[in-house]
Amino acid sequence: MTIPIPAEDPRHVPNRAVIDPSAITQNTRALGTLLEEQTALMAVVKADGYGHGMLTAARAAIEGGATWLGVAHPASALALARADLDAQILTWLYEPHTAQIVLPEVLRSGVDVAVGSPEMLQLVAAAAREADRRARVHLKIDTGMGRNGVLPWQVREMGAAIRDDDFLQLTAAWTHLTSAEDPEGPATDQQAELFDSACEALEDEVGPIPLQHIANSAATLTRPDLHRDIVRPGIALYGYPPVPADVPLRPAMTLSSRLALVKEVPEGHSVGYGRIHRTSRATTLGLVPIGYADGLHRTASDSIDVLVRTQSGDRRVPQVGRISMDQIVVDLGPETAARAGDEVVLFGDAGGEPDAPSAPTADHWARAAETIPYEVLTSVSGRVTREVRA
Ligand SMILES: Cc1ncc(COP(=O)(O)O)c(C=O)c1O
Repeated sequence: MTIPIPAEDPRHVPNRAVIDPSAITQNTRALGTLLEEQTALMAVVKADGYGHGMLTAARAAIEGGATWLGVAHPASALALARADLDAQILTWLYEPHTAQIVLPEVLRSGVDVAVGSPEMLQLVAAAAREADRRARVHLKIDTGMGRNGVLPWQVREMGAAIRDDDFLQLTAAWTHLTSAEDPEGPATDQQAELFDSACEALEDEVGPIPLQHIANSAATLTRPDLHRDIVRPGIALYGYPPVPADVPLRPAMTLSSRLALVKEVPEGHSVGYGRIHRTSRATTLGLVPIGYADGLHRTASDSIDVLVRTQSGDRRVPQVGRISMDQIVVDLGPETAARAGDEVVLFGDAGGEPDAPSAPTADHWARAAETIPYEVLTSVSGRVTREVRA
């Protein structure tokens, strides 16, 4: 028996992740301008659309020109298939126990499946027989990631096994890049060379490979030679290019809360667990009811700003002391117009006046927490209400 967590009523909670689908649509369109006409765009909407809501992200990306959707888990692929969206779906990560249950349904729903080992091929072949459907297989080649994928010297054998089984159809060969932060570096070139020679061997065995795909966001932005038939951007769709981008991209998620209280404290007052912060002067502290249980990174404690929207305008103020489970403290300064109930933007697009201070981004949080924006976005927890901007 599974036990659902009782849902909290969003009207009773101040914390909001506001999702702007038009940002995802525009970001998808912007990436599309980099592609040759024959190259398709697979929007990667795994991990609940990088925390933005999978269906919201999928619909917005399709609106922007995506014709494929990519997710890790078959369960997510099924949820997408049931939404009856106008896109081909690919799923790439499963294990035998649940695959036996879910893969037949996945195949019946017309979803493509990735295969990254001989054992996965057996699972897909069995599921295809059960579903009485020919499985469209994307053969994953491990060119250096060391995760899912067959090694280059296994592709002939895998290709032959696919060719010889009437329930299997080789739809694509693909790989995943290890070094998104350095798409022009030698690691990427080495992966591309390994992939190309594995594809040659595969074609030698089974004939033309209908589709090839390699490029994540970084390679979509910087490596047209790796675009091939489909690109698979994720993070860039949500407004966070992992490398400098020549196309306009904007964040699609804004995380906000409200001040719970505002109080004056003397110089030298300690703040939070472990007293890692003491006020350097008499000041006003603001308490914000959002913490690491909502997805803020505790390792960013005492080294990030937030935006407070007061009656007299927006102000960037430092977060001080350790980030707690449910709350953070901000230093509003000795003179402040801030009042309990004022909005606090943790990151995203506050939509203020052009000359007003802007909110921090998930990139700022990532730098402060020594992580990546991917983790910042996907960490926003289930107790934060997602609101879709109309
Ligand atoms: C297989 C695969 N393709 C594409 C992506 C998208 O990568 P990015 O978000 O860096 O664009 C991911 C994300 O990790 C992935 O796992």
